[in-house]
Order: sequence, then C-alpha cells, then structure tokens
Amino acid sequence: MVALSLRFYTDYVINGDPSQIWNFYDHTIYVQSFCAAVIPFGIVAFAAFQGFLKYVNFYLTNWVGNKISNALKVDLFKKLTSMDPQFYDVNSSGMVLSRFLSDPETASRNVINSLETLITAFCGVIGLAFVLLFNSWKLAVIGLVIMGAAITPVTFIRKKIKSASNENIVVGGDMTTNFNETFGGNKIMSAYNLQDARNNMFQSQINQQFGINMSLAKRVGWMSPIMYTVCAVGIALVLKYGTHLVLSGQLSAGGLISFVTSLLLLYKPVKTLGNTLTQIQGVFVSMGRVFELFDLAPVITAQPNAPKMQGLQNNIEFQNVSFEYEKGTPVLKNINLTVQKNEMIALVGNSGGGKSTLVNLLPRFYDVTQGKIEFDGEDIRNLDLVSLRENISFVFQDNFLFTGTIRDNILMGNKNAADDDLASVIKMAHLDEFLEDVGIDAPVGERGASLSGGQRQRVAIARAMLKDAPIIVLDEATSALDNKSEAVVQKALDNLMADKTVFVIAHRLSTIKNADRIAVINEGELVELGTHDELMNIPDGSYKNLYNMQFSKGNF
Ligand SMILES: Nc1ncnc2c1ncn2[C@@H]1O[C@H](COP(=O)(O)OP(=O)(O)O)[C@@H](O)[C@H]1O
Ligand SMILES: [Mg+2]
Repeated sequence: MVALSLRFYTDYVINGDPSQIWNFYDHTIYVQSFCAAVIPFGIVAFAAFQGFLKYVNFYLTNWVGNKISNALKVDLFKKLTSMDPQFYDVNSSGMVLSRFLSDPETASRNVINSLETLITAFCGVIGLAFVLLFNSWKLAVIGLVIMGAAITPVTFIRKKIKSASNENIVVGGDMTTNFNETFGGNKIMSAYNLQDARNNMFQSQINQQFGINMSLAKRVGWMSPIMYTVCAVGIALVLKYGTHLVLSGQLSAGGLISFVTSLLLLYKPVKTLGNTLTQIQGVFVSMGRVFELFDLAPVITAQPNAPKMQGLQNNIEFQNVSFEYEKGTPVLKNINLTVQKNEMIALVGNSGGGKSTLVNLLPRFYDVTQGKIEFDGEDIRNLDLVSLRENISFVFQDNFLFTGTIRDNILMGNKNAADDDLASVIKMAHLDEFLEDVGIDAPVGERGASLSGGQRQRVAIARAMLKDAPIIVLDEATSALDNKSEAVVQKALDNLMADKTVFVIAHRLSTIKNADRIAVINEGELVELGTHDELMNIPDGSYKNLYNMQFSKGNF
C-alpha cells in the first residue's frame, strides 16, 4: 500500500504537471497539489489505521484466549471441589495444580495464536498453489506432492509430544508437591536437617524434566531440516522435469522461472504451517487432558430429588457394615451398632483399628463396601447429600482453618448467623478472653498457622457450634494438646456436645469415661460394647487392659 502510494507520489507530484486537473463532479482538482497534500497524509492515516486494526486484533485475541482459559479453569475448579475424599487420597497437590491450572492455560493460550497463523499460512499456500497451477499443472502436482510430503512427519510426532507432555505433567506435579511439602514441613525439614535431601530430590526432578524436554527437542528438532531437505529435493525434481518440458516446447522459459520462484516463495508459509501444526499437536494434547478431567465424576452422589434429612429423631444404625479403601484389604469388618439419639458413644481401640474410618462413613466421605448405615431407618445413601452433611459436625485432631480472619472461619459454620449467636458461641467455645486480646478480625494465617493448637481447636469448636448440627463427631479432638489447653478445649467441647448425638474418639480414656457407652474397635472389628463399668467387669477385656495400661502409666 505504502509502496503503491509512493508510485503515485512519484508520478503525480515529483514528475507531475501543475496544470493537470481532475474533474470531480462540479469541482476542479489540481492533481499535483492535491496529491502533494493528500498522499503523505494518507500514508500516515493508513499506518495509523493499520496500527489500530493490529491493536484491535491483539486485544480481541487476548480477550478470547483469556475468556476461554478462565471458563475452563472455573469449570475445572468446580469439578475439583465436587470430588470425593478418595480423589484427594490418590492425587498429589502438585498434580492437581498442574492439571487443573496449567493445562487449560496452555491449551487456550496457544489455540488462538495457532489458529491465526494457521489460517494466514493456509491462505498463502492456496494463493501460491494457484500461481503454480496456472504455470504448469504437471509441475504443480509434483511441487505440491513434495510439499505435502514435507509436512506429513509433523503429524507423526503427536504421540511423542503427548508422551513427553504427560511425563512432564507428572514430574511438574512432583516438583510442585515438593514445594508444597517443603513449605508445610519446613520445621521438620530444619529439625531433621533434611535440606540436602530436599535439594537432591529437586535436582533429580529437574534432571528428569531436562531429559524429557531434550528427548522431545531431539524429535521436534528434526522436523525443520527434514522439511528443508524434502523441499530441496522437490525443487531439484521440478527443475529437472521443467527443463525437459521447456526443451520439448511444452512450457516457456519464463513460465519455469515464475514457477520455481513461486515454489520457493511457498516454502515459508509451508514451514509456518509445519511449525504451527506442531504447536497445535501440543494444544490437542493439553485439550485432551482437560477433557479427561471433565469426564471425572464423584463416586459419592445422591439422587437429584432425594429426601432431605430433617435432623435425627430416633437412632443411627450400622448394619453389617464392612469397608475397604483398597480392594482386598478390609478395614472394617461386619460392624453392627445402634446409637440412640442424644447418646454419647465413645470409640476406643488400637491405632489403625478403623475408628476414624467408621465415623468418616457417616457423612459419606466414603461409602460402605457392604451393609448399610441408617439414620432413622433410612439408608443414608438415599438421603440428600448436602442435607446429610448439614446434620453432622466434625472436630478433628488438627482442624483446618482457611486463610482469612477468625470471624470468617467461625462464620463458615453458618454464614447467616446473627451477631448475638456469634458472641454466644465465642463465649461457649471459651474464645472470649483470647479474642479480647487479638480481636475477632485477626487473620489466622495460612492453615491457621498464627494460632496455637488450642486456639485453633476452639475456633473450630465455635464453627461447629454455629453449625448446630444434631450429630457431633470428635476425632481425637484434644489429643494434640497439652493438659492446660486440653482442659479449656474440653470445656468448650462439653458445651458443643450438650443435647447432641455424639461419637467421640479419644485415646485418653479419662475423656471418655462419662460416655453413655464405649465401643472397642480392634483390627476393624467391634469387640466390646457397653458402659465403662460393664467393660471393666469383663475379665481380661480389651478395654480393661487399655484402661489399666494408661492408669499404670499415670496418664490421668
Ligand atoms: N485414605 C486412606 N486410604 C487408604 N487406607 C487408609 C486411609 N485412611 C486410613 N487407612 C487405613 O485404614 C486403617 C484404619 O485407619 P483409621 O480408621 O485411621 O484408624 P484409627 O482411626 O482407628 O487409628 C489403617 O490401616 C489405615 O492405614
Ligand atoms: Mg484415627
């Protein structure tokens, strides 16, 4: 365009005739002065317009790319939050991060750019192909077949790209997990002087990644030279056959020159096409993995119109419940247990016996392998899942607090709680004194790192109180605490447990002596069930042995 206007400028302004005129409707235009005024302006205007279009193109491309990748990420995050504990058991945090965050990014960032280049290059190829056909169809066929041959290897390296990229996701995931663990376990790392071990682990992961990338580079690096060589062969053949055509009078010499020039010009768009196709293979691989994630489905679901659980009226019944995390390794074996409404049942037994597993079945973190659990005679698998979980509160040994303030974390129990309710649970959870010092809007730090263990527990208890579920599960809630904080936390727990159906797991038997009944679970089996006094009367009973062992150690 600019080149074209230069021609006009030269013809009409520099070499122009001042008296030459154009008639434009009723107006007389002096060509030389008109062009002198308009052409420079036109050049600037054209450049500006072109720049504007480029900007719009750039902006829109980015807009579309970001929209696509954001939509994918949001949907994938929803998918992630919908997954069962089982999914989190088997997938590392790093793996989740790279698959749910990087893949959609790679896929959508490259897809737009590649498409753009692909379309431009494709148009270029088609245009030049016409010129070739116009000159000589016989030569054109030879030229195009060879060009086609030059870009076919690209389609074969998809497999290699896929395997390399899958391996990269695994190593990348391991590396992220390494970072997460170094972060979360920084005190253990310092305490055990594990820095060298961590460094070496990271170094070996980096080396592994290097190996994968180089093996890919080795394959992809061949693409260009191969294409180049095949093209050269094509041009040589065309020259040879073209000379024959010229000599036999079927083609003019000019035709051959024009043909070979077009063929050479064709090389660039074909090469771009090749490179873009390579990039697109990568996009396909990432896309494929993203779609795999969309195919994931939580195992634990309820019917869409399942009845909601309306509190607990009578009892909770475990009927012949067996459970295994992995096929063939039973963790719970044929448990039968009925817990009455507002009863407090304690679960004791050897570590690893299956106590936590048993209570994890109540909110359907996992589903029973055999048998069933009934709330008021209704199999919990037939109840609406959200309402089921609304009716059960958990306090664990180490409760997870989310980044935010203490208020945010307590309100997770019930985001619509009134200020009065909040104040009352703070008092009942014995948080009032502590909060007078720091304030309820103090940040808890990542995972609640800026609170002490006892404070974290009481925030978690306040959260559970606000939730006000009829069923309470305490899984070693005071086990990690020293005696002094345990005493305060226990008081808070007593307030939480009042008038609720309670499952309490504790290894300090002092905390469970006042339970209505005690269930002893060993190796996945319910071996004893009764009140403290009843179990103490079983000669050589498990509970009695446990109790005496702790008593003799002076653990009371
Ligand atoms: N998420 C899990 N995946 C696989 N096995 C598990 C999982 N959680 C616990 N287990 C296994 O199940 C058994 C019971 O564990 P658990 O219920 O935590 O025992 P307890 O709470 O009585 O100490 C143990 O052998 C443990 O290794
Ligand atoms: Mg446990």
